[in-house]
Amino acid sequence: MHVTLRQLKVFEYVARHLNFTRAAEALHLSQPAVSMQIKQLEESVGIPLYELQGKKIVLTEAGRELDHYSRTINKLLEEAEEVLGELKGAKKGHLNLSVASTANYFATNLIAAFKKRHPQTTFSLDVTNRETLLRQLENNECDLVIMGRPPDEMALTKDAFMPNPLVIIANQEHPLLREKQVSFDRLRNETFVIREKGSGTRIAMERYFAEKKVTLQTGMEMNSNEAIKQAVEAGLGLGIVSTHTLGLELETGRLGIMDVVGFPIARHWYVVYREGRRLSPVAQAFRHFVLSESSSIVEVPLS
Ligand code: PGA
Repeated sequence: MHVTLRQLKVFEYVARHLNFTRAAEALHLSQPAVSMQIKQLEESVGIPLYELQGKKIVLTEAGRELDHYSRTINKLLEEAEEVLGELKGAKKGHLNLSVASTANYFATNLIAAFKKRHPQTTFSLDVTNRETLLRQLENNECDLVIMGRPPDEMALTKDAFMPNPLVIIANQEHPLLREKQVSFDRLRNETFVIREKGSGTRIAMERYFAEKKVTLQTGMEMNSNEAIKQAVEAGLGLGIVSTHTLGLELETGRLGIMDVVGFPIARHWYVVYREGRRLSPVAQAFRHFVLSESSSIVEVPLS
């Protein structure tokens, strides 16, 4: 059976009006054009679809069956048109977003604000460290990534959108917390609790120590900012974290930011995708939203 969608559409109108002339008017076609479509349709299905009783059209059993199916098919087509239209306008759609562990302190706020404007959009959020994000980008596994500056040698489209200052935190008892403009050199003998290998914060921290030619003395290594803050609070050493991760600990005085010359280390957040990837309308809309609105949604202390 070789039936076209156009024939089914015409047949639906004929079955509805039981009159070729009225069906033709409703479809803005000529009456012979409608008759021709129905004739071809009958030839394709190989069985009469209607009978003429005087001037009146009566559907045969086959005609009634086909009427049922063409209504269903035409309805599904309309639905498909509507859904595609919504996807085009980014009214709905799904986004696979991956963010650096530290970026998760604000990513959920960005998603919530975006969803207020685009309530039918849905998100999968993967929170992981820099190394894994780069692998995901390499393998084209996610739509968009929010991370610290990605390496130049990878073929990526990347745009900076917000500062990410890194500060030195200490337990309230630490004597250097009460001093101003502490020179970095005075931290030579301090022990640091550090993030896991693959963390962007850790890479930035190691780079800074290497630039200043200071050996980094590390005590413990842990894979979350929360664990770092707790370890520092417990007196296990100093820590270097993004100010995005700090809130209540500073207000309640459980931790303090040390005033060290050269700090905060100025990093930035980037929204990134693999070069050449065709972004879906919702991914394009979210990227645009992050670039243009994050500064009014996310507060960045000490930036
Ligand atoms: P991280 O990433 O959470 O992996 O440390 C943050 C960054 O790249 O600055």
